[in-house]
Amino acid sequence: MNPQPQAAVGAPLSRVDGPLKVTGRARYAAEFDVDGVVHAAIVDASIGRGRITSIDTGAAEAQPGVLRVIHHGNAPKLPYRDNSNGSNNPKGRRLRVFQDDKVLFHGQPVAVVVATTLEAAQHSASLIEVRYDAEQPSTDLTEVTADEPTRYARGDAETALRDAAVRMDLTYRMTRNHHNPMETHSTIARWDGDKLTVWDKTQWVVGTQTELSTVFDLPMKSVRVINPFVGGGFGSASRCWPHTVVAALAARELKRPVKLVLTRRQQYFGTGFRPRYEYRLRLGSDRRGRLQATVHEIDAETSSYETFKENIMLAGQMFYSTPNVSQAYRTVPLDVNTPLWMRGPGFANASFAIESAMDELAHRLRIDPIELRLRNEPAEDQSNGLPWSTRRLRECYTVGAREFGWHRRNSKPRAARDGDWLIGLGMAAAVYDPDGQAAEARARLNADGTAVVEAAASDMGPGTYTSQTQVAADALGLAVRAVDFRLGDSLYPKTPAHGGSMTMACVGSANLDACNKVRGQAITLAVEDRESPLYGVKAEDIVARNGRLHAEGNPSRGETYQQLLARNNLPHLEADGSYAGPPNPERHSYYTYGAVFTEVGVDATLGLVRVRRMLGVYDAGRIISPKLADSQALGGMVGGIGQALLEHTVTDHRDGRIVNANLADYLVPVNADIPEIKAIYLQGEDKRADPLGVKGLGEIVQVGVASAIANAVFNATGRRIRELPITTDALL
Ligand code: MOS
Repeated sequence: MNPQPQAAVGAPLSRVDGPLKVTGRARYAAEFDVDGVVHAAIVDASIGRGRITSIDTGAAEAQPGVLRVIHHGNAPKLPYRDNSNGSNNPKGRRLRVFQDDKVLFHGQPVAVVVATTLEAAQHSASLIEVRYDAEQPSTDLTEVTADEPTRYARGDAETALRDAAVRMDLTYRMTRNHHNPMETHSTIARWDGDKLTVWDKTQWVVGTQTELSTVFDLPMKSVRVINPFVGGGFGSASRCWPHTVVAALAARELKRPVKLVLTRRQQYFGTGFRPRYEYRLRLGSDRRGRLQATVHEIDAETSSYETFKENIMLAGQMFYSTPNVSQAYRTVPLDVNTPLWMRGPGFANASFAIESAMDELAHRLRIDPIELRLRNEPAEDQSNGLPWSTRRLRECYTVGAREFGWHRRNSKPRAARDGDWLIGLGMAAAVYDPDGQAAEARARLNADGTAVVEAAASDMGPGTYTSQTQVAADALGLAVRAVDFRLGDSLYPKTPAHGGSMTMACVGSANLDACNKVRGQAITLAVEDRESPLYGVKAEDIVARNGRLHAEGNPSRGETYQQLLARNNLPHLEADGSYAGPPNPERHSYYTYGAVFTEVGVDATLGLVRVRRMLGVYDAGRIISPKLADSQALGGMVGGIGQALLEHTVTDHRDGRIVNANLADYLVPVNADIPEIKAIYLQGEDKRADPLGVKGLGEIVQVGVASAIANAVFNATGRRIRELPITTDALL
């Protein structure tokens, strides 16, 4: 078929769902009107480990409006069938709500109160007396024996390190972070006989459907998950958490729809988090800064019952040319809830260690940090010997250095001042592995000239609705307003989780395939229809534009979709599209790349850090929706500023309690913390990655920010901070 003109793709559209959002008509999980709904409130464990010895529900049950209190003593046994593949559950034995008397972490759900009003449920929950046989929980990563490591090695890193002219031994510490999306996690569950419908905050309706079908031992088709709008996620909603099961269980017991909304506090232990890390990095280079060996010893927290591992090793294997690499990645099982991916998962932590260390090496060897990176730029992926699909990091450095004014940086620390502020410039490179997976979509072109595309995808904020509409509009030759892209329903064709920067590439490619097929059907119909002005024209000479098919180079010869379908008495044309995953993962290594530049001011007496400017330059493949790409980049870099300077989940190791489980004490960046931020995307596409040429943007924009800031703080002050977040007390 003729390639389609691209009118919508690449245009800086505003969100197509913007009007729904600003007028409050966009429905989030807890906002659906479900007849007869009653309200649930969770009672969570006030010890960090041990057993429940008794639960006194008398006072709660005596309250007006209370319908039921459910806990391990009266809950039915649930099948909890194995679900190791279907919903992002880490290896292990998932938490089984109300199935026994064990408490595995502080905040674990131990009972649920269901009442006719939210107030009655919450008040009654506070009246429940739970007694425990408490044990001392272990929640400190540094005080518990780690599991067997996952290892990687090439060459002989220890020997090469010993022989290296320059050696460094550096340990980086990164605190736990919580996602804190604005919309707290919530679920409405309703049973119709043995069919379950849930409206659930999730980044993956199919994953939640799979989890519920295994927990309750139901066929997949008996579970429907609906979630058209997600008020932020950053990864926290990419697996189904126990509270969703609690809501479904309560609804089944009560035989009424149940709504359960986690409080902000409960969200800190009811959902996952970016795990705490200790990352020891030893590196050896020659005198010109060329890496000879790196040794990575990585420890991360996980729960006692599941082993959460993420992609933290790859960056150390593929990013810089290094003949000898050795890695050991160990999880430490603790009495905590299970961690989960958070924006830029793995890479955002690995890059803090690696990119800080490169800055330390550059300083020691008196080499410009960009020059040092260029000297270590690999010709191919040394972890697997594959060529890069596209790797335009050199351009990221060149463009970034020019736009940012990198030449103005004084390589001597503590050399620039602005009044009370010490000024520093820092940069870091960024990489992320967008993990492409299979996806499906269905497109329908209606007789009225509009189209509907459906996929069980999500839009947690990046603008899936908009960017997918743009792809469909161009593939069908329709105006953007004539296309209705629908997502967030498990009845729609299957997609992978909305995460890992893969939605645009995977769902987009399936969407493109479905729309191309529908356009192909319309073209075939026209060229074979004696009454069509296009009768006899070669199919490959026809394009679709503005809802009309016409011969390329002869726009007057053609007809609208409406004319074509009406004459043929067709209510619509429909096709299923699919994407099988990256077309050649065996032949090319594909990653997204970036370079982050920042200027900070550090108050010389108070140790306050202010980010003054930030620029990110990205090689993310084709940009479908530039305005929303900017929104992504801004959000990702703001997230990086949070990781660098503010976000810090604090656990009291005496009882395993998170002490700052609220938005007053868990600090996130606010407007006053955010300077001028700019993102530049290298023009181009990566057709080896997928048919759309998209590589993905959502994660890469968070990666590298923390190290760029730490490196700028060093340039400003001469103080090297190897612990996140970088706080005032570390700088005093
Ligand atoms: Mo993202 S951490 O994969 O939601």
